[in-house]
Amino acid sequence: MENRLYFNRLETLTEDKKKLIKKINLERESIGYYSLPKQNIDDILEFTENFDESIENIVVLGIGGSSLGAKAIYEFLKPIEQPKRSLFFFESTDPLNIADLLKQIDMDKTHFLIISKSGGTVETISIFKYIYAPNPDKRRFTFITDKGSSLDKFAEDLGSKRFYLPDNVGGRFSVLSVVGLMPLALCGIDIKALLKGADDVCDSFFEEGLLKYALLDKALYYAKNHARYNINCIFAYSETLKYFTEWYVQLWGESLGKKQRCSAFNVGLTPIGLIGPKDQHSFLQLIMEGTRDKSVTFIKLREFEHEMYIPPVTLKHLESLDMLNDIAFHDLINMQCDSVIEALKNEKEVPLDEIIIPAVNAESIGALMYYYELLTSLVGELIDVNTYDQPGVEAGKIILKEKLQSR
Ligand code: PA5
Repeated sequence: MENRLYFNRLETLTEDKKKLIKKINLERESIGYYSLPKQNIDDILEFTENFDESIENIVVLGIGGSSLGAKAIYEFLKPIEQPKRSLFFFESTDPLNIADLLKQIDMDKTHFLIISKSGGTVETISIFKYIYAPNPDKRRFTFITDKGSSLDKFAEDLGSKRFYLPDNVGGRFSVLSVVGLMPLALCGIDIKALLKGADDVCDSFFEEGLLKYALLDKALYYAKNHARYNINCIFAYSETLKYFTEWYVQLWGESLGKKQRCSAFNVGLTPIGLIGPKDQHSFLQLIMEGTRDKSVTFIKLREFEHEMYIPPVTLKHLESLDMLNDIAFHDLINMQCDSVIEALKNEKEVPLDEIIIPAVNAESIGALMYYYELLTSLVGELIDVNTYDQPGVEAGKIILKEKLQSR
């Protein structure tokens, strides 16, 4: 994975960078996600190897950090790697969505993973009740939660298999833990390669690799300019990255939109996920000529698996588009991305960078996700927020509980 920055940067080890590295190293001692790339996954592999071969569908009942990461990886790899089992996500209390998903699965060939760190999330537990009540068979369900949670106790009484989140791994930083790895492994995805990609980024950052200064420079730029450039767009040139951008929006938004730790100020950076070339025909105008409050990170794939060429045919009245003849689609899409970058480089006030990932494979997406987790931690430290909590979402939950209780 390569990261090219097109804004003013200081590639030397400044005092700011030294301080930041020190703080992140300190944080690394207590925050669990940093060490996930080097974790032991024998229990996950063993469970997967001995799994019932007649099961064709895996259903994740979970929301937010308990579903978005696995979904991003599954959807990224799906066009290239035929999954061993189909993976479904029940994330919403929308009855249309629940009914539609249930129509697509044969209950007798389906296994449910109930994933909730807290074990008490309304969306997850309400859908679980709906599925469990008519099918109370312990073998249909595996539970992934924090040890000792109410859900853990329920699963223990039921006699179902349980897995636990490692210590100090927050929901939105849990994709590389059992939360993301279990559903993916059951679908035949190479989770060792996923972790290898993440580990390469981890080593590159913590052991003087190429990504270290890109990450530090980018984090410092975002933090120092966060009052002006408070919107961070990812513009990914592949449909396969659509759900990755959803994961990014959650990670960035829920981690960085906070009250500062040492002041009364509310701060935050607003994530936007865009997909090229589709969003060239919508959001791009706003980036090009709108308020100068956005930075843009382009994500490109170096290799697309499919060699598809535009045939050299001339269409009457459309002769001016003969320039498309014989062009491979993978070259076309990257030329489109490069052209937008070039056009934006002429608009000097839009901070840009480009991430190039080698191919659609587990290693690449593992690397990209870990890169974004690190970037989030770095920016969170610099803008002085607690990156790992989410007190802002509690107020609505409390009101909902009151409403439900007073029915
Ligand atoms: O990142 C987070 O902590 C949240 O988005 C949670 O993942 C989300 O609220 C779901 O929580 P839980 O896993 O406890 O059901």
